[in-house]
Amino acid sequence: MLDDPSIDDARYDGLFGELLALEARYPEMVASDSPTLRVGGAPLAGFETVRHAVPMLSLSNAFSDEEFADFDRQVRERLELGEGGVEYVAEAKLDGLAVSLRYERGVFVRGATRGDGDSGEDVTANLRTVDALPLRLRGDAVPRVIEARAEVYMTRSGFLAINERLEAAGERGFVNPRNAAAGGLRQLDPAKSAERQLTLACYGLGELDGADPPATQSATLAWFRELGLPTSVATTLPCTGLDACLAAYRDLEKRRATLDFDIDGVVFKVDAVRQQRELGTRSRAPRWAIARKFPAEERITTVLGVDFQVGRTGSLTPVARLDPVFVGGVTVASATLHNMDEIGRKDVRVGDRVVVRRAGDVIPEVARVLLDQRADPDAPVPVLPAHCPECGSQVIVADGVVRARC
Ligand code: IVH
Repeated sequence: MLDDPSIDDARYDGLFGELLALEARYPEMVASDSPTLRVGGAPLAGFETVRHAVPMLSLSNAFSDEEFADFDRQVRERLELGEGGVEYVAEAKLDGLAVSLRYERGVFVRGATRGDGDSGEDVTANLRTVDALPLRLRGDAVPRVIEARAEVYMTRSGFLAINERLEAAGERGFVNPRNAAAGGLRQLDPAKSAERQLTLACYGLGELDGADPPATQSATLAWFRELGLPTSVATTLPCTGLDACLAAYRDLEKRRATLDFDIDGVVFKVDAVRQQRELGTRSRAPRWAIARKFPAEERITTVLGVDFQVGRTGSLTPVARLDPVFVGGVTVASATLHNMDEIGRKDVRVGDRVVVRRAGDVIPEVARVLLDQRADPDAPVPVLPAHCPECGSQVIVADGVVRARC
């Protein structure tokens, strides 16, 4: 969005109204880049399946500097670079949903979710409601076909606003921006999708016809911007060699809290497309890119009680009831204690101050107890109930197995 209108609002509204009236009279004439489609067209009966001409890959993960160094070493070995540093681009790993945006002769014609990577769902109508998405590319030299791969996400401020609205209306809010964005993208009624105020950033190229592909990832990002396709502000380039990459990672980790959107790591991509081709792909993930994931977020809170959850098979799992805390993008009010052995090992008691950890979609867990902060040294150790809290039948502990069954 350039935010630089060439006509005043009143004139725009007048022309917009005229266009709406014309389109209502001649629906077959509605252009696929008509601005009226921004507000959401008619609801759909379901989503069509779209086959991706170029598969949408996923990323391998590195959870430590050592794992990242291994990745870098393998890249250098495969490219036979010796000690020479590889040029990478460091991009924020946006925590949203991957989509493919297809433009034909500069006009946005189709948007699809990643799905299983080979085919996804046609969410064109919903994507048209995303203001950041250009309905028409900029410039005269647009390729015949270009597919941009992008992440659709919701800003934190947008998420807070939508939850405030929902809660004021007595409805339940969303757990985190990612869930709100995912739900928004899969609304059958595009007008509902429009209400979510989603945004997006482009980071990769899919099908391309009628233009030479850029020689580097950084040139691809620059080309996207020339065409009017938004890219993420949280990008560092170039990053030459291991140390520069580790520094870029630390830098983004520091900036993470100040960003108005959730990121869950840094994606490092070998910049030169020629080198990317040489490295190739292994089981659906490129050998030329890796996601250096941020560690699971941790917060301190208090254990209010220990409950026992009955699973589908009748197994009992101890769960700590917690003073609610916001951690890893969601409010956590309970965390698994896994089993009785684990309670013993960690020495969890009611009233304890504990460190709660949550990463991405992983269920929250009690990482450790702050033993030096235990108020009552004689606080009782939680014990397995003799009877199932749901059906009242006796709880049996099979030899050696700590999990109990009704
Ligand atoms: S590139 C060729 N770049 O992460 C590799 N993905 O774990 C394809 N994601 O499905 C992905 N930010 O939804 C790439 N800057 C970024 C990204 C990014 C977020 C997501 C994307 C992808 C998932 C893979």
